[in-house]
Amino acid sequence: MKIPVGRSELNRKFEFVQNWTRVGGFRLKTDMKHEFWNERWQQRHIGFHLGHPHDWLVAAHERFPAASRIYVPLCGKTVDLVWLRDQGHDVIGCEFVASAIQDFFREHELSAQTEHRESGGASYECHRAPGLSVLQGDALNLNPELVGGAIDVIFDRAALVALDPASRQRYVDGLHRLLRPGGHILLIAFAYDQSRIAGPPWSIDAPTIESLFGERFAIETLAVRAEEGNPRFQAAGVPEMEERCCWLTRKD
Ligand SMILES: C[S@@+](CC[C@H](N)C(=O)[O-])C[C@H]1O[C@@H](n2cnc3c(N)ncnc32)[C@H](O)[C@@H]1O
Repeated sequence: MKIPVGRSELNRKFEFVQNWTRVGGFRLKTDMKHEFWNERWQQRHIGFHLGHPHDWLVAAHERFPAASRIYVPLCGKTVDLVWLRDQGHDVIGCEFVASAIQDFFREHELSAQTEHRESGGASYECHRAPGLSVLQGDALNLNPELVGGAIDVIFDRAALVALDPASRQRYVDGLHRLLRPGGHILLIAFAYDQSRIAGPPWSIDAPTIESLFGERFAIETLAVRAEEGNPRFQAAGVPEMEERCCWLTRKD
């Protein structure tokens, strides 16, 4: 990987995490990733947060089966959770930064009941409001028992791209396990010249989507457009990214 110019302390820390990923040491690795995102939330470096439902989610929603069980991985405080619940779905998010979840419930004036859930050595706090719950913990350790059964549709916007490349396969295997056969993933990802700068967001181009999902999912590209890069990316010579929306259907 090229060393980008003008990296922040957080970026250097994240790259260190990548090295750890290769060396091993799972516990420390997870804690450092959590610390990285926790600092981003504390410092309000949350340019990814939209504040309105994603236009491609709204456009693709007619494909969602009515009253689906929907999983939103790495959900942050996205308003998509509330928008999907308001369409009549049962929505489950997962996020490991506690303050992001607190912001979400406060900003939507939702009062949550919290319960502890454990399965397969992983533990979560589950914050529940009518039609909507958010699991606080590592999305990479989720299993169907923890989300209360098979999921009909997964909405991944800025989630796969937020994970370091070494975690991708494990994440995709986990999504496959959570989905019912014939279930769907609405995937929204970004692609750019990865040699110019390290993520997150990490570049996920069409061939990468094919190699991660192609064997077990039918892939339909719904939309592609240019998206302005954030200031850090612009400074590294990435003025824009390609944003891609795919509808994936589990084959088996
Ligand atoms: C780029 S943001 C996207 C948030 C949301 N999907 C959106 O569109 O606004 C990624 C989020 O994933 C969270 N996150 C990163 N790795 C995670 C993990 N392994 N488990 C749970 N949450 C994670 C971060 O704290 C952050 O809020």
